[in-house]
Amino acid sequence: MSFKSNIDRIYVLEMARVTEAAAVACSELIGMGDEKAADAAAVDAMRTMLNKLEIDGTIVIGEGERDEAPMLFIGEKVGAGNGPKVDIALDPLEGTTICAKGMQNSLAVIAFAEGGKLLNAPDVYMDKIAVGAGLPKGVVDLDRSVEENVKAVAKAKKLRVSDMLVCVLDRPRHAKIIEEIRRCGARVKLIGDGDVAGVIETTNPETSVDLYMGSGGAPEGVLAAAALRCIGGQIQGRLLFRNDDERARAHKWGITDLDLKYDTEDMAGGDVLFAASGVTDGSLLRGVHVSQDGKRYTTDTVVMRSKTETVRWIKADHKRNF
Ligand code: FBP
Repeated sequence: MSFKSNIDRIYVLEMARVTEAAAVACSELIGMGDEKAADAAAVDAMRTMLNKLEIDGTIVIGEGERDEAPMLFIGEKVGAGNGPKVDIALDPLEGTTICAKGMQNSLAVIAFAEGGKLLNAPDVYMDKIAVGAGLPKGVVDLDRSVEENVKAVAKAKKLRVSDMLVCVLDRPRHAKIIEEIRRCGARVKLIGDGDVAGVIETTNPETSVDLYMGSGGAPEGVLAAAALRCIGGQIQGRLLFRNDDERARAHKWGITDLDLKYDTEDMAGGDVLFAASGVTDGSLLRGVHVSQDGKRYTTDTVVMRSKTETVRWIKADHKRNF
């Protein structure tokens, strides 16, 4: 997409429609205990909406590789094909387990960027560290100890270490990080799932989260980087490989240095647009809610644009089509 002509402006509302449709589609399955069905509903709706857009879109971060994902697979072409070239990162339902359990913070998420500017991250884990806006570049680094990073952020924010709140995914693999955070005197906010929202929390003073740490999906790392490019903040990531198959997948996507640290711009460079709609209620957005008479529903969406750093909050009231 030639973002130079400002053509990306017109996609702001279109992107909101895309994430709204995905959120609404899977909201019917909130709390139903069926992760696959919820994900499939979101994928189907997102793809239908994307194919209505006048773009020549290519999925760079999607539901997986062609043989494992029937729709929105990496490399799939989407859009009506008659518009500018756009690289797309998406997660139609970020937090499938959260949605299936009716818990907080599941989202429908998408990012648009100029061709070649999104990291082709394979679906492996990524070690991540992130902070919100207004801090010196490089204030955190994956090669420093947990204590060094916590203390560096406390110093930069002029906070006592004991006032610091660090968000971490609640996983056994994070036991050591959690222990080290607590040992240096900082507090931990554990989340069950959804590290795109977890990273974005560092940018929102209302959440009190100062730092995000720990490993999660690499695709979610790229989506979080896209959001931070628009809203401010820094993320650093390093791919983690558990076996040769995962290493081979990275090579397939042209990644030769497997130990590379990626910063925010390495993961989402150039002009970027990011949109998310709440599926279930969360720290960033309200979820989808049906009106008392069952005839309408409301959605809550944020759309951000890196070029202007505009952040638009869109609350929509929709007629339900039975
Ligand atoms: P899904 O939507 O694919 O279920 O991802 C949810 C999530 O919590 C992500 O936000 C996170 O990056 C990843 O899973 C962590 O992976 P794991 O659950 O294997 O620790």
